[in-house]
Amino acid sequence: MLFAFTKMQQVISRRVGAHICDVGASRSRLALQVRCMSRFADVAQAPPDPILGVSEAFRASTSPSKLNLGVGAYRDEDLKPVVLSVVKKAEAKIFSRNENKEYLSIEGFEPFRKATVDLLLGAGHPAIKEGRVAVIQSLSGTGSLRVGAAFIARFLKGATVYISNPTWGNHRNIFGDEGVKWEYYRYFDADTVGLDFKGLMEDLKAAPSGSVVVLHGCAHNPTGVDPTPEQWTAIADLCKERNLLPFFDVAYQGFATGDLDKDAFAPRLFVDRGLEIMVSQSYSKNLGLYGERVGALVMVLKDKEPATRCLSQLKRLARALYSNPPTHGARIAAEVVNDKELFEEWKGEMRGMAGRIERVRGELQRALEAKYPDKDWSFITKQIGMFTFTGLTPAQVDNMTNKHSVFMTRDGRISLAGLNSAKVEYLANAIVESVRNC
Ligand SMILES: Cc1ncc(COP(=O)(O)O)c(C=O)c1O
Repeated sequence: MLFAFTKMQQVISRRVGAHICDVGASRSRLALQVRCMSRFADVAQAPPDPILGVSEAFRASTSPSKLNLGVGAYRDEDLKPVVLSVVKKAEAKIFSRNENKEYLSIEGFEPFRKATVDLLLGAGHPAIKEGRVAVIQSLSGTGSLRVGAAFIARFLKGATVYISNPTWGNHRNIFGDEGVKWEYYRYFDADTVGLDFKGLMEDLKAAPSGSVVVLHGCAHNPTGVDPTPEQWTAIADLCKERNLLPFFDVAYQGFATGDLDKDAFAPRLFVDRGLEIMVSQSYSKNLGLYGERVGALVMVLKDKEPATRCLSQLKRLARALYSNPPTHGARIAAEVVNDKELFEEWKGEMRGMAGRIERVRGELQRALEAKYPDKDWSFITKQIGMFTFTGLTPAQVDNMTNKHSVFMTRDGRISLAGLNSAKVEYLANAIVESVRNC
């Protein structure tokens, strides 16, 4: 009886629409009572984010040996978050100036915009001198990609965006939510645990003229596999021949090799070969400004006038999305990049972060080789950047988490930034047990 009545209430609620007061029965007195149902009662629960959800699960775990290798955020040897010394120094300078909290202009903080383009192309690059670079400060890498996606939706109508398979999980959401059609191009060869260069070239050759190709500027996430300089050159030439627009996602400049210039090789090469490019840049990882949301969308074009007009349109899009970007992180980044002394110190700190990751990478490989010599583990030190793409299957990943409390994404990626020497043995044992038994 009660069940039937409740069912009836739901039907009435749906028919009449939201925010309806309906009538319910009390078991004991059959009295009528008025109860309000939310107009959002039918909204389904969204699944947890495949990357950030890992950190939530890690926090909820009570295991004393738990290890968070999910999120790509740098940790020191004690597995603690790091605020770089240059960031503290820059903040001290900023605070001493007692600056106000007024809005920035829509395109962002001028010294930050200059610093960001210098970092990408190298100070004094002809494109900068010729004024054919449009740059808008945005909400870190993600926000910059989203502004780029909005720009593509509006001005490259119907263009398909090609993203690597696999890629950072959020690329699909960013372009998909903006209503931009996306497809995969082949990238990773599981047999060689390396780049599927042939597949990549075939897929880009087959892409319709005018398509957009998202390329990871360096330290490909999640595979840690980058094209060689020769392969980059061939990709650039193919983009030119096929009229494809390269959209570089530069989230790890400095983290691949520890050297900012070396890590900007690919976008600089494309520009120098006469291609127009879009770039999203992030200071989350290399300056450790994760939560400050500092980044930019850059367009390097052939001529000054279209660059000026594109900037005006980027501003229009940003105005409707978030109006103007945050000040504090931009001031920090500008202070560090534009100050000779701090810039040199930053390079040293970055080498330190990249070096620590490289060290644990080597330690993990050696531990696995000692415990499971029949398998080739050399791919671990061939990969670069923050991650290693282990090749663990989803079932093996579940075992890593459920049995060993090692939290990682289900694609088999582990963030080496969350590993230290003391935990290498534990991780290697968990991997070997999972590979052998699952
Ligand atoms: C490939 C790639 N692009 C973009 C981002 C965006 O990061 P953020 O929005 O923190 O700059 C990330 C972060 O993990 C990433 O791995």
